[in-house]
Amino acid sequence: DGVDPVEIETVAYTVEDGVAWVSLNRPDKRNCMSPRLNRQMMRVLDELEFREDVGVLVLTGEGTAWTAGMDLKEYFRETEAQGLKGTRGAQRESYGWWRRLRWYQKPTIAMVNGWCFGGGYGPLFACDLAFAAEEAQFGLSEINWGILPGGGAAKVATELTNFRNAMYHSLMGENVDGRKAAEWGFVNEALPLDRLKDRVTEVAKVLLTKNPVALKATKDAIRRVREMTYDNAEDFLVRAQEAANSFDNEGRKEGIKQFIDDKSYKPGLGAYDK
Ligand code: ACO
Repeated sequence: DGVDPVEIETVAYTVEDGVAWVSLNRPDKRNCMSPRLNRQMMRVLDELEFREDVGVLVLTGEGTAWTAGMDLKEYFRETEAQGLKGTRGAQRESYGWWRRLRWYQKPTIAMVNGWCFGGGYGPLFACDLAFAAEEAQFGLSEINWGILPGGGAAKVATELTNFRNAMYHSLMGENVDGRKAAEWGFVNEALPLDRLKDRVTEVAKVLLTKNPVALKATKDAIRRVREMTYDNAEDFLVRAQEAANSFDNEGRKEGIKQFIDDKSYKPGLGAYDK
C-alpha cells in the first residue's frame, strides 16, 4: 500500500500454532528503534491484534540484540533537525506503539535475546511477561551519552525494581545481565539463550489454554490496580468482571460446571477445557 519496502522490513513476523512471533528486524543496527521501525511496528500490531489465529504475541529481536534503544541518528539527531514538530512526531510514534502494546488485546511476552537499552524499557514494560537470556544485557545508558532516561524508561525502572536499584542503574549507566534482571524484577526468568525460545513457547502454550476474555480482563486489571487505593481497586475489579461477563457469558459458567458437576478438572491445577 505504498509503504517503503525498507520500512516494511524493519519488523518481521510469523504466526505459528496461535503465537505471533514478532521481531525487531534491524540486526545490523542492533534493532535500535528508528521512526520507520516505530511506524512499521504499529502497523504490525494493528494487523495481528484481532486475528483469530493469534492468541499470544511474543516480541523478540533478530541477531544479537533485543533492541539497542532509540536510534541516536534517525530518532534523535535527524528528527531534532526538523525542530519541535519532528521531535514530538517521533515521540508520538514510539510511545504510541508501546502504549498500544501495554493494553494489547492478547497477552504479550518479551523474549529478550540480547542487548536491551534505554528506550527498549518501554516495550519491555509494555509486555505482560518477560523472559531473558542469561547472556542478555540491560542498561539505562542515557547517562553515558548525556541525557536522562526518558520515554518512560525512568518510570519503568522504578515500577519494576526497587528505588536503590533504579537509582544506581540509571546514575551509573552500568548494565545488568539477564540473571540480575530477573533478580531485580525486570523479567520473570532468565535462561541460557539456547533454552529461551523453548521456555517462552511453553509459557505461550499455557496461555493459549486459558479463556481469552479472562486473559484480557486479568492483564488490564493487574496494570490498573497498581495505581489505585484498595477500595478503588475493589470497585474497579467488580465492574471489570461484570464488563467481561458481557463478552463471555458461557466460559466461566462452563469452568464452574466442569469442576462442580463433571469433575473433569481442578481449577487449582489447570484450565478448563474450552
Ligand atoms: N542508535 C543508532 N545506531 C546504533 C545504535 C543506536 N542506539 N545502536 C547500535 N547502532 C549501530 C552502530 O552505530 C553500528 O552502525 P554501523 O554498522 O553503521 O557502524 C551498528 O549499529 C552496530 O553497532 P556496534 O556498536 O558495532 O555493535 P556491537 O555489537 O559492538 O555493540 C551495543 C552493541 C553495545 C548495543 C552498541 O551498539 C551500543 O552501545 N549501542 C547504543 C546503545 C544505547 O546506548 N542506546 C541508546 C539508549 S538511550 C535511549 O534509547 C533513549
